[in-house]
Amino acid sequence: MRITRFKTPTASEITPEAIYLKRREFMAAGATLGAMGLSPSSWAAPSQLNADGPAAPPWLQNKIAHAKPGKALSEALTPYKDATHYNNFYEFGYDKSDPAAKANTLKPHPWQVEIAGEVAKPGKFNLEDLLAGVDLEERIYRLRCVEAWSMVLPWVGFPLVDLLKRFEPTSKAKYVAFTTLEDKQQMPEQKSALSTIRWPYSEGLRIDEATHPLCILAVGLYGRALPNQNGAPLRLVVPWKYGFKSIKSIVKITLMEQQPKTSWSQIAPKEYGFFANVNPKVDHPRWSQAKERRLPNSLLNPNIVATTPFNGYGEEVASLYAGMDLTRYF
Ligand code: MTE
Repeated sequence: MRITRFKTPTASEITPEAIYLKRREFMAAGATLGAMGLSPSSWAAPSQLNADGPAAPPWLQNKIAHAKPGKALSEALTPYKDATHYNNFYEFGYDKSDPAAKANTLKPHPWQVEIAGEVAKPGKFNLEDLLAGVDLEERIYRLRCVEAWSMVLPWVGFPLVDLLKRFEPTSKAKYVAFTTLEDKQQMPEQKSALSTIRWPYSEGLRIDEATHPLCILAVGLYGRALPNQNGAPLRLVVPWKYGFKSIKSIVKITLMEQQPKTSWSQIAPKEYGFFANVNPKVDHPRWSQAKERRLPNSLLNPNIVATTPFNGYGEEVASLYAGMDLTRYF
């Protein structure tokens, strides 16, 4: 993983964010009307909300438009333009601008996800069936990349645990492995002989991490369907871990007895551990993890902030690691 310089967005580039913020005000007003017994009949039509988003099917746009609003953080949201144009998605290239420029080859609809391994009810499901009966909610989370930059993003998704429960994990299910699509036509960088990643990109969590209520599967960002570059149509978001754990464009979820092999810990096990919990006290061998560059930033405004243990979610998740030596299990 490399660090590249970031450009400050212009006012015209952040319009979608403005639309989204207006909608939040509108939904908050709707909630107030609801509390007064009045129905918010004129909520913005999903098609308008997705005016410049990817061509997601109406059922998904509609679900996302009705997601329950989330709790705001005290920190400002990262502008939409930055969230969608400063990405890591190595299946499309290694520069931060590559995913936005090249991920239009990805076809996220229709999409299937296989649930396999230690579950009573394995199978392959259409995304629509997987999401049937699922109520979406907004989750505003910090995202801290191992490269020492960070964002604050409004995801739309649902707790992973709700999905796992439906397939009835067996008593042998101790870990959950996740796999990204492998398709050289849709993900051209997978053709490259120079790539260090062994495709498909894969990640994993311990079962208690995967079933923690903060761990979500996201289908939306900023009130619209996930852009391709952010991992359409379905990605993981684990806010207390470095961003590389939050695997994109998932096609397979496997419950396992043994700890799964993961992409980055295979490439460089001394640099990227299986746990990858955000930890300002354990430096990456090549750089400090004590601070981070909060986007957007510029030369005049570097916007450097202190990194917090578990990315600020320690109160909720530190107990998962009680008694573990976090310098060894990094
Ligand atoms: N998932 C896949 N399949 N391929 C990737 O290259 N990059 C990871 C993660 N998920 C990656 C991935 C890294 S390193 C980070 S920091 C986050 O996605 C970035 O998510 P974002 O681009 O939506 O900010």
